[in-house]
Amino acid sequence: MAVKVQVEHSIALVTIDREKQLNALNIETLRELEKELSALNDDRGIKVVVVTGAGSKAFVAGADIAEMKDMTEEEARDFSALGQRVFGLLESIPKPVIAAINGYALGGGCELALACDLRFAGDWAKMGQPEIGLGIIPGFGGTQRLPRLVGRGRALEMILGGGRVDAETALKMGLVERIYAKDELMPKTMEFAHRLANYSLCALQAAKTAIINGDGQESERDLFAQLFTGADQREGMTAFLERRPPRFTE
Ligand code: CAA
Repeated sequence: MAVKVQVEHSIALVTIDREKQLNALNIETLRELEKELSALNDDRGIKVVVVTGAGSKAFVAGADIAEMKDMTEEEARDFSALGQRVFGLLESIPKPVIAAINGYALGGGCELALACDLRFAGDWAKMGQPEIGLGIIPGFGGTQRLPRLVGRGRALEMILGGGRVDAETALKMGLVERIYAKDELMPKTMEFAHRLANYSLCALQAAKTAIINGDGQESERDLFAQLFTGADQREGMTAFLERRPPRFTE
């Protein structure tokens, strides 16, 4: 299996596990990832998802070039559609998803990170969209998500230029939210995941949906109001007023 899932408390750690190929994404891996993400999507016991790559060299070094090399136009369309669908699923899972970027995040690997809600990078990480050098363009949503995250100019610079940025630069341009040293990346990422997992799943879901939907204040208003139909809102506010920690149940 090229995708491993470990559940600890209510956090799922998803590892892309093709270490020899620097965790490059082939069709089989994308299909496995889709299956695992669908299960996590439906599992009310999971509150936070963390995505990483096996080993300490690469998060994901891109789509599998050996598999892509001889694809026909139709096969390439299907491959792109598969990657777009899987990353779309990742983006739309109504729970926080954090990428722990433990090395190279190139091409489809950078696009995988872009489909996550938060990106925490190791200080040795290198990110980029090198597809132009292979005579192609990003095909798993990168042309859409990258400009949304870092702005059109920087996205064009990365996609047209095909260069890599180091973790420090990625942080400065808003491509990642945090940087950690090698021995701190996973512990600190899991610590943050635990922090989120203590919150109400309903509130986490509403916060993510309101931001991702991007259809303005009406959606925010509806999601805000819906939270007042559940128990966690009352518990959170009562606990505050009673000066005690909340006991969320949803
Ligand atoms: N696909 C398939 N195999 C890959 C791969 C990829 N994207 N990236 C690395 N590998 C394989 C290498 O072929 C090599 O395999 P062998 O040991 O069998 O020769 C192994 O992983 C180790 O890689 P290197 O020997 O190249 O390691 P390195 O330390 O010299 O370089 C690297 C590391 C800079 C990440 C380099 O491997 C590299 O540039 N990889 C390709 C990055 C890339 O171009 N990604 C974009 C792919 S296109 C894409 O993703 C399109 C899309 O959006 C859908």
